[in-house]
Amino acid sequence: MALKLKLKPDGAAPLYRQIEQAVRAAIGSGNLKPGERLPSAVDLAKDLGVNKLTAVKAFQLLEKSGLVRSEVGRGTFVTAGGETNGAAAPAEARVDVAKSVRRLREGFARGLRELMSMERPPGTINLSGGAPSPASVPDDLLPKLAREALAHNPRRLHDYAGPAGLDELRTQLAATLARRGIEVSPDEILITNGSQQAISLVAAWAREDGRAAISETPTHPGLAGALMLFGHAVQTIPWDGNGPSIQQLRALAGRERSLFYVCPDFQNPTGLTMPTEARTALADFARRSDTCVLVDEIFREMRFEGTEPRSLYTMLPAGRRILVGSISKSFMPGLRVGYLVADRPLIAELLPYKRYMDLGCPSLVQAIAAEFLKNGYAKHLEKIRAYYRVRRDAALEALESAMPEGVRWTRPQGGFQLWVTMPAGVSSIQLFLQGIERGVAIVPGPVHDVDGRYLSCFRLGYAHPTPDEIRTGVGRLASIVESLLSRGANGSPAGEPGILI
Ligand SMILES: Cc1ncc(COP(=O)(O)O)c(C=O)c1O
Repeated sequence: MALKLKLKPDGAAPLYRQIEQAVRAAIGSGNLKPGERLPSAVDLAKDLGVNKLTAVKAFQLLEKSGLVRSEVGRGTFVTAGGETNGAAAPAEARVDVAKSVRRLREGFARGLRELMSMERPPGTINLSGGAPSPASVPDDLLPKLAREALAHNPRRLHDYAGPAGLDELRTQLAATLARRGIEVSPDEILITNGSQQAISLVAAWAREDGRAAISETPTHPGLAGALMLFGHAVQTIPWDGNGPSIQQLRALAGRERSLFYVCPDFQNPTGLTMPTEARTALADFARRSDTCVLVDEIFREMRFEGTEPRSLYTMLPAGRRILVGSISKSFMPGLRVGYLVADRPLIAELLPYKRYMDLGCPSLVQAIAAEFLKNGYAKHLEKIRAYYRVRRDAALEALESAMPEGVRWTRPQGGFQLWVTMPAGVSSIQLFLQGIERGVAIVPGPVHDVDGRYLSCFRLGYAHPTPDEIRTGVGRLASIVESLLSRGANGSPAGEPGILI
C-alpha cells in the first residue's frame, strides 16, 4: 500500500521517530488494518526522501512494540496487535513464523552436522570430502611460496592490507580471471577469508538492500547457513536437469527484489555444470527482473574434460551480478584466500561490510597466494586436473560395476564430487550410519538442502582416497544399498521415506 506520511525535516523528533509515530497513529486510527502490508523500507525511504537506514530503524521500533511483523522475503505486515490501538499482544501469544521456521531448519542442520562429525574408525575410507587432498600438493610448495613472498621488502606486509585486499594479489587475480575469460580490473575485486566470507558479506548486504534470498538446491550447506545467519528466510529452486528451473525462479523472483545463488560449474553437491543455453536463459531472466545473481565459481578451474561454457558472470547484467571464488579447491582451503568480484558501484556498497567485519585479510597469506598465482599456479592446475580425473574415473567404474539396479549417478567433467540417487525410500542417513560401521563415509543428501529433502541421494567425494580405496569404498556402499533394498525400501507405514528408514 502507499503510505501518506508527512515529515518535519527540522522537527524536534528524529525522522525515524516521526515515521514510527505516524505509522503507529495510522494503525491506531484504523487507517492501517491488521494483515495489511507496509511498503518496503527501501520504497518508503525513497518516497519520503530519507536514508534507507532511517526507515529500517522506524520499522525496527514498530516491530519491537509488536505493531508490525516482518517476514523475510514477504514484507512487513500490521499485526493483530494493531487492533488494540497500538497495544502489543503478550509476547507468548505472538508467533514469529519466519523465526520458527528458521529455528526448525537450523535445528535440523545442527543435528546433521553432529552426525557428520561423529567419530570414524581409523582407516575409514573418506568418500565425504569436498576439499583437495593434501597429497595433491608437494610438501615443500607452501614453505617455498612463503619464502618467496617474504624475500623482498617483508615490511610491506607489516601493515593492514586494506579492506579490499593486497594490491599485488588483486592484480594477480585480475590476470588469472582474464585467462578464464573474465575481464575485470583489480578494483572490481575484494579479497575475502575464503569464498564463504564473500557469501556472508553478500548475505548481509542483501538483507539491508531488502532482497529476498533464493538459492539453487541441492547446494553447498554453508550458503543457507550464511543467509540464515543474517536473517533471511531462504527459498529454494531445484535443478531441472540443466540448471535451476527458470520457471520456478520467475514465480519466486519475478515480482520482488531478490538475490539468487547458483554454482554453475561442477556444483556442490551434484558435480553438474549448467550448459550454455541454461546460462543464457538465466541471464535473460536477470535482465528482465530486479534479481542480483550470486555466481559461485569455486570449482570452475577444476575442469578435466569437455568444453568450458562461458562464465555465467560475464553474461549477467552489470550492477546486479556478483562472482565469488577462492583457491580452496584448486590449491588448499587452509590459506583461507577467497574473493568477490562485482561492478564498481556494488563493490563500493560491499566494501564497508568487509571493513567492519575484520579490517581486511592477513597480508602474509595474501602475499603467498599472489606469489603462487604469478608463478606456478597454471602448472599446478594442469597437474591436479589429471590427479582428480583418475579418481573420478575410478568412482564411475566402481559405481557401474557394483551398484544394484535402480541406482543412478551424475558424471561430472570436473571438480571433486558426484551425486548418487538411490531408489525412493532408501535413506542416505541409514547408509551413512551403516557406512561408518563398515569403514566408509559419504554425505547424506539432506545435508545439502535447507529443508532436509533428497533423503534417497548422497554426495560421493572422490578427492581424498586413492583409486583403490575408492573401489573398495564404493563396493562397501553397494552392499549396504543392496541390503537396504532387500529389506524393502518403502518399508515405512506411509510408504514415504523417513529420516532413518
Ligand atoms: C560451492 C562452495 N562454495 C563455497 C565454499 C566455501 O569455501 P571456501 O570458503 O573455502 O572458499 C564451499 C566449501 O566447500 C563450496 O563447496
